[in-house]
Order: sequence, then C-alpha cells, then structure tokens
Amino acid sequence: MTDRYGVIGHPIAHSKSPVIHRLFAEATGQDLVYEAWDIAPEDLIERVRQLFAEGIRGLNVTVPHKTEIARVASRLSSRAELAGAVNTLIVHADGSIEGDNTDGAGLVNDLRQNLRVRLAGTRILILGAGGATRGIVPALFETRPRDIVIANRTPEKARELARDFRLLGRILGCQFQELGGQNFDLVINATSAGLHGELPPFPPSILGPGTLCYDLSYSMHDTPFVAWAREQGAGRVSQGWGMLVEQAAESFYLWRGVRPDTKPIIAKLPGAPGATDTMQARLA
Ligand code: ATR
Repeated sequence: MTDRYGVIGHPIAHSKSPVIHRLFAEATGQDLVYEAWDIAPEDLIERVRQLFAEGIRGLNVTVPHKTEIARVASRLSSRAELAGAVNTLIVHADGSIEGDNTDGAGLVNDLRQNLRVRLAGTRILILGAGGATRGIVPALFETRPRDIVIANRTPEKARELARDFRLLGRILGCQFQELGGQNFDLVINATSAGLHGELPPFPPSILGPGTLCYDLSYSMHDTPFVAWAREQGAGRVSQGWGMLVEQAAESFYLWRGVRPDTKPIIAKLPGAPGATDTMQARLA
C-alpha cells in the first residue's frame, strides 16, 4: 500500500519539500506520496491529529509550527529536545509519535559531505539567536569546533542561548559590534533579516580569505548576506540549499530506513556547476 507523508506550515505553497521527497522516492523506489498542507496555528493540533487518524506515516513541520507541534508527540528525540523545535514527526509501529529535528544534521552533512569542510578545531560564528540558531548549535558542537560565538542584534538573547548550551562546549553570546577584530573559519547567517531584504551591520573584519560564509536562507539569486560576503572577499560562500536537501534526506531516512543519495539533487541546485534550468524551475 502507498504510504502517505507530507509537510505542514503556514503558508506552505513555497515549500520545496514535496519536490525533494518525490525525487527521493523515485530514486529509491519507495512507494509513497508526499503532500503539503497549509494549517493555521489555531487549527494545528486538531488538524494534525486528524491527519494521523487518516493514516499519515510522517510529517515535516515548518514555520510557524516547529515549537507548538511538540504537543502531539508522545516523545521527543534528544536533538529535538535540545533544539526546542521539531521539524519531523515519525509514526512508529506501535502507533506512538516521535518528534525529531533534522535541521542541525542537515547543515553538518552539507558542510562536511558536499562542501568538504573540516569543522574540528575551527572558530564558528553564528549571526542571529532565534529558533534557527537553537536548531543548529548541538549538531555543530558534535563536530568539535574550537568555539562557537553567537552574535545578535539583541545581545541578551545571544547570551541566554550561550548559557543554555554551555555544557556542550565553549560558547559565547554578544552583539555584532563586539565582533570587531575577530576572525572566523565559518560564519553562518541565521538571522531572518534577508527575508525582508535587510542586511544587519555585520563588521567586515569577521571575514578572511579562508572564511566560509553560509546562509541558512536560500534564494534563486544571491541572498543579501551572500552578496555582502562576496563583496568583502570571503573565501567561499554558500546558501542553505544543500542543508534543505540534507535535512530532507535525514527525515526520509527516519521514515523509510533508506538513505537517499543527495548528490544528484545537490548537483542541480541553483549556483551548482551542473545546475539546470529544469531542476531550478522544479525547485522554484
Ligand atoms: P528563526 O526561527 O528564523 O530563527 P526568529 O526566532 O524570529 O526566527 O529569529 C530571527 C533572528 O533574526 C533573531 O536573531 C533576530 O534578531 P533579534 O533577536 O534581535 O530580533 C534576527 N533578525 C531579524 N531581522 C533582523 C534585522 N533586520 N537585523 C538584525 N537581526 C535581525
């Protein structure tokens, strides 16, 4: 029987998850369908319970439901617990529902496997201290960086986040202006400023010729952060397309026990050397 999966969010029309999961299913020969549901916050819990009652085997969860959705889970994985957010729900054989979070693993897999970055011993700077940052810090610490600095427009939030994760490794929270004179191997933009076409006042001195700048956001063209990083002469730049595909692959693996090969999709993403208009049109 064909198993049903899908993604929930509000809005959801922009989601690339249906295309990515259908490509994974095609490539691995898995018998499944993947749909998208737009669910308003006030209907969330009732509607999701209804979907599970209809036999849905798993869900991806996106903005704005990643925190609230934990209420429908029978239990949370430790990484979802640490992230304070759920992006994947898995229905187990006994009917219990587990909430997990594959965002951090998706980022680390993209950095290591696709971008070939060695993270052990590096200095990592994360710009922004919201839900996206919380989701990636635990997975980044598993790679044994030298330290992680979190800089945010509202410094109290960065300091609070650093306090929450202090048992995982060396971590410091500050504001953008305090970064002057420091250099980092990896700079990750986890602010949502680019979504509004804004560029916060990041000090250019944080970038050197060896710095990789990674934007968790993605777009068919350079994001404001990526454009800025290029102008400042950053060593390498990348948008979050690879992370998007890798977090999806991790969810697919949790549901099906089969790890899809992400390389054929990664190779066709916007900005990749082998990118094709057809693939980009499918993802747009
Ligand atoms: P997400 O789940 O995407 O992380 P969020 O929790 O609302 O969303 O967090 C958004 C992050 O982007 C915050 O760190 C926010 O900074 P503040 O904590 O100071 O609000 C940051 N952000 C959004 N717009 C920004 C802007 N124009 N300049 C600087 N930082 C911005």
